[in-house]
Amino acid sequence: MSNRARIPDGWTATNRPLGPEPGEVVVWACRTTLAAGVVDRLESRILSPAERARAGRFRFDRDRRAHIMGRSLLRRLLSVAHGLPPGALDLREGDHGKPCLEPPLDAVGFNLSHSADRVLVALAPGRTVGVDIEVAKERSPHDEIASRVMSPVELEIYRGLDQAGRRAAFYRLWAIKEAVVKATGRGLTFPVRELDVLASRSGEDGRPRFHREVEADGSLWRLAELAPGAAAAVAFDGARVEPRLRWWTGDG
Ligand SMILES: CC(C)(COP(=O)(O)OP(=O)(O)OC[C@H]1O[C@@H](n2cnc3c(N)ncnc32)[C@H](O)[C@@H]1OP(=O)(O)O)[C@@H](O)C(=O)NCCC(=O)NCCS
Repeated sequence: MSNRARIPDGWTATNRPLGPEPGEVVVWACRTTLAAGVVDRLESRILSPAERARAGRFRFDRDRRAHIMGRSLLRRLLSVAHGLPPGALDLREGDHGKPCLEPPLDAVGFNLSHSADRVLVALAPGRTVGVDIEVAKERSPHDEIASRVMSPVELEIYRGLDQAGRRAAFYRLWAIKEAVVKATGRGLTFPVRELDVLASRSGEDGRPRFHREVEADGSLWRLAELAPGAAAAVAFDGARVEPRLRWWTGDG
């Protein structure tokens, strides 16, 4: 399947890895279901030796593809943003594993996420950013997990929804919270139950309403839901802007 198949509404299809403009928040999406030869070529041409070694350790081909597609798209976009070859980017990890670049290349915030056959990469010059995508599981454990990740206020709203409503709200909530967690870079040390993102049972569109900004770790995070065919969200600091959505059709 090519990356052009079934591009969701609101996303602009392009095979040009454009650099982000100052102040913009750009989210790129792609599918990982490309021909095996294409994925192998990306692995050998764009990934670092450490990333290639990691790719070789995945048990499932789906996870290997997601890793290769995520890192190769990220490297290409950062390469255009910084005017450097993809292989010259020394991607390191912060205290809890958030990928980063050393100054002065830290001027462009970035983050990536994968779920099932989808990848998202967010770039935001002059900002800190986190992104998350969650493809719903067929046998979804949402009711079991809810009390572990929701605040008391959120749980009360959640429990007032019907079964289908709870399932959809759970994945939206998870993606939004995870985007905030990833923006802060704190990973599993972040107290997700202290974060309130679910605002009410029903907003203007009849679906549960989520807050558009939230405070965490001393910063105000702007929140935007994305619709790449699954629950997804981006969190960023600084002034509110509408994220630009691009669907990567290269390599297809
Ligand atoms: C890495 C983490 C932040 C997210 O993992 P995940 O949701 O399973 O996976 P995603 O695909 O969304 O993100 C993985 C990518 O995030 C990036 N990442 C890794 N650690 C990160 C961190 N601490 N902060 C931000 N981004 C991180 C990496 O690029 C990684 O992909 P790569 O290794 O292929 O480059 C992980 O620490 C985690 O699962 N935290 C859970 C926190 C939690 O309780 N969430 C509940 C929300 S309700």
